[in-house]
Amino acid sequence: METFPHTEQPLLELSQVTALTDLSATTAGADPSRVYEDLRKRWGNVAPVQMEPGVPAWLVLGYREFLAVARPDGTLFSRDTRHWRLHREGQLPEKAAIWAYTPPIAAKPWSSFHHDGDTRARLRRPLDDALEALPDKAVKDRTEQVCGLLLDRLDGEEGTVDLVREYAAVVGFGAMAALFGFDPDTAEQMRQDSAVIMQEYGPQTAEARTRMGQALMGHVASRQAEAAVDLTSEFVRHPSFLNGREIADSMTVPLIAAAEFLTAWIALTLRLVLADQRFSARWRGGRLDLDQALDEVLWRDTPVPNSCLPRFATQDTVLGGMQIRKGDALVLAMAGANHDPQFFAGDLEVGNRSHLAWGTGPHACPARSQARLITRTAVERIRQELTLSLAVPVEQIQWAHTPWVRRPQALPVHYRREATRGHEL
Ligand code: HEM
Repeated sequence: METFPHTEQPLLELSQVTALTDLSATTAGADPSRVYEDLRKRWGNVAPVQMEPGVPAWLVLGYREFLAVARPDGTLFSRDTRHWRLHREGQLPEKAAIWAYTPPIAAKPWSSFHHDGDTRARLRRPLDDALEALPDKAVKDRTEQVCGLLLDRLDGEEGTVDLVREYAAVVGFGAMAALFGFDPDTAEQMRQDSAVIMQEYGPQTAEARTRMGQALMGHVASRQAEAAVDLTSEFVRHPSFLNGREIADSMTVPLIAAAEFLTAWIALTLRLVLADQRFSARWRGGRLDLDQALDEVLWRDTPVPNSCLPRFATQDTVLGGMQIRKGDALVLAMAGANHDPQFFAGDLEVGNRSHLAWGTGPHACPARSQARLITRTAVERIRQELTLSLAVPVEQIQWAHTPWVRRPQALPVHYRREATRGHEL
């Protein structure tokens, strides 16, 4: 296999590589760490990949390079899609799935996720303030309610259920929608629209986007007319927001993207505690240290392995020995940097949280503690009510085919309702 860089050659440019590794190889394969390792061996800490066919990008795998891209606020690497050469020149495939996170320039959303510098800081403040003011009890209670509704819906005393579709995905969206104050019916419609938006871009995407936009704007208007006790009302009250559109746009990442992220973390944790012998015996015996399982997932099976909105180079530069051209896209590989052998040995120390599962820098996840509480509650609650065992051998569990999150496509389990806890299956 050819390796790069060779010192006698000029630096490699993205346009020179034709056979590109698909980014979903880092999420949908049985052993993503192997894929990162191969990329690292071949290219070094910054590797050329394709987000999907026809959409090339640099994948930033090195811990040091990751920090160099993520930490400065938009000066050299921007979140603003107007810098993206492919986008500017109209070369992106019409049906690119990247559109789920990167709407056309004309529809540029007003959220901290999509901006840099002062605008980012202004749009981020309400999010940080509202999350800080949110009592843990509210997060736990709302999550418990959503979980309770789902568990009540299961047929009979025992049966088989897909924990991704019937539980993790619904809890992920439902918990955040409840915290924003949506009623369950609107939340369910939005969840279905969100699922369409996250798939391939097409006519249904536009419809789903329109319906979602209307639901968000309508909800904001209702809280502007009369405040309630929820995150939307906190946003409405916040002086940083200039209008309802900014509020609605700032709700999409915590709702749509965060739901995907939560789904992944819940599903991966359930898979780990059900399938891995180190955890499964303790899980059945009621002695599981759940935080240890949650942390292990963040390190080893990072739920968001790749940053879903790339950064775009605002000028020519060199990174990890590669020639980055103005307008190139760079995807941060949280999972890749977590396994950078220059920084981390293979063994996990209990309690070590220096991983990059939450990103870092100005765009780092603002909701770590809330996300942990939702995930923890979802896993605990199902454990209190059901005795579970995998319905298929663990090797048969397939991985979802998406470039951004790592999660099982389905997690079929046998369940049995338990009046008392703590005995073997
Ligand atoms: C309560 C649930 C969650 C909420 C409300 C939430 C919200 C957000 C928001 C608003 C951002 C963008 C911040 C900005 O650009 O200013 C973000 C970024 C991020 N979130 Fe979360 N999130 C949640 C759960 C999760 C989970 C479960 C994970 C994975 C373990 C995660 C991983 C990330 C990462 C990696 C980024 C950074 C992306 C980047 O730098 O490109 N989040 N989150």
